[in-house]
Parts: sequence; structure tokens; C-alpha cells
Amino acid sequence: MTKAEIIDGKAFAAKLRADVAEGVRVFKVQYGMVPGLAVVLVGTDPASEIYVRNKGKMTREAGMNSFEHKLPEDTSEGDLLGLVDKLNRDDRVHGILVQLPLPRHISEQKVIEAIDPAKDVDGFHVVNAGLLATGGEGIVPCTPLGCLMMLKHRVGDLSGMKALVIGRSNIVGKPMAQLLLRESCTVTVAHSRTRDLAAECRQADILVAAVGVPELVRGDWIKPGAVVIDVGMNRIPGDDGKTRLAGDVNFAEAAEVASAITPVPGGVGPMTIACLLANTLTAARRQMASG
Ligand code: GUN
Repeated sequence: MTKAEIIDGKAFAAKLRADVAEGVRVFKVQYGMVPGLAVVLVGTDPASEIYVRNKGKMTREAGMNSFEHKLPEDTSEGDLLGLVDKLNRDDRVHGILVQLPLPRHISEQKVIEAIDPAKDVDGFHVVNAGLLATGGEGIVPCTPLGCLMMLKHRVGDLSGMKALVIGRSNIVGKPMAQLLLRESCTVTVAHSRTRDLAAECRQADILVAAVGVPELVRGDWIKPGAVVIDVGMNRIPGDDGKTRLAGDVNFAEAAEVASAITPVPGGVGPMTIACLLANTLTAARRQMASG
């Protein structure tokens, strides 16, 4: 029998999107214009196409303009940088997202660094990473921001808690660790070279798993009463011959031990797009305030 509270990311995200829609309504009255998000997709990766379609739909549902740019797989790096430059200078565009991964002949780093940091709603630009690390006010990457919102909603004050982040990516692990540190947690970052991952997990009051290894974290690794946030989205073979989505945590086992846990799907995933919309509104407000 499940003991843990299941954190409903879908409901939480729906509430956040409704709050953003209300903020957009006020923005329109205040400034006489509509916040706009430009999403750029290069190539035809099926998963990326679904993400981009969903982002466009939810952007419009929140009352914002969605500018979608679909470029062929063989687009040159120069042409993509040219488009980013054009979007940087377009006053109708307050947020720019270039869907990753990019084709191999294009440097992701170069493209991310070309985005105006004020419009970098992914929060991937080195200026935004630096602002997060130094206590400034930049734009925070969407997935860790969504995780933090759910954590704070469930736990309240996080200060003094032991947090373990599994994974050290620039997109999730590192910014997540920075956010938890900002909340005065004692933060450990584990990764593929960590010696005794189970022992590290057993210490953690808050466990954020973002490694991309299906069901890596077992129930007996979890400290009783811990709050578990599962960022994993792994497609694995299911019992019925079809595939199913699995997180980085063995949900059935963990739910017996944790006090609260996010499911996969329906946990962190829906929060990512909702936070993208929130970041776009934040970026638009700051751009209007700074003229
Ligand atoms: N591809 C998968 N997730 C993301 C994301 O959060 N941002 C971008 N730009 N690309 C992604």
C-alpha cells in the first residue's frame, strides 16, 4: 500500500498556467501589448516536434503570442544564428527558446550564447547561470524551477534540510543544486562517479533524481519520510509488449518509504512547460520595466 503523498504535477501546472494567464491579462492592460514567445525547431525529431507543438498550444492558451520557426535539418549554423539575432531585435518577442538537441553540425553552445540573456527563457545562457550562482536575478531553467515550486509547496521552509541531487547536467542538476543552496539546504550533487550512491540517498531529506537511468533509485535507498522529486523520463519496455514511461526512481518501492513523491508521468513534466510560460511573462515584464 502506498504511504507517500503523490504530488500532482499536472494539477499544480494547471494552476500555474492559470496564474500566468491572469498575469498576461494584466500585462496587456498595462502595456497595450501581448507577451510573445518564439520557439525554434531545427529538423524533424519526433519527440521535439511534439514538445514544440505543445509549447505553442499552451503559449496561446495563456493569451500570449507564439512564433514558431521550423527550419530544415540541413540549416547552417550561420543561418540559425541569423534568426536568433533577428528575434533578439524583435520587440514582439520577449522569450526565445531553441529546442535541443540541435543537429550535430550546429554548436548548441554558440547558439545558446547568441540569445539575448533577457530573452533566454530556458535560463541556459552563461549570464543566467552566473546570476543564479551568484544570487542575482536572472532567468532560472524551467525544470529545476518547477521542481523547487513543488518542493516548497509540499515542505514550506527548506532551510537546513539535506538535499541530494543525482545528475550534474547544466539543464537540471547544476541549477537545481544552486536553487536548493539558495533555499539554505545542505546540498550534495551525485553523478556517475559517485562511490556509494545508495548511502548518499539514505542521508537525504530531499532527493531529486535527474540522471536518465530508469528506476535507478530503489525503495531501500530512501530515507523514511523523504520528499522525492523524479525528473527522469525514460521509455522502457512494458509488461504488455508496448513501451511505458519510467522515472529514475522505482516509484512503487519509493512510495512505501517517502512522505511525498512525484509520479512519472504527471509529476515534473507538466511543470516544465508551465514554468516556461511563467519565465516568458517574467522576461516580458522585465523588458517593459527596463524600457
Ligand atoms: N529539449 C528538451 N528539453 C528542453 C528544454 O527544456 N529546453 C530546450 N530548449 N530544449 C529542450
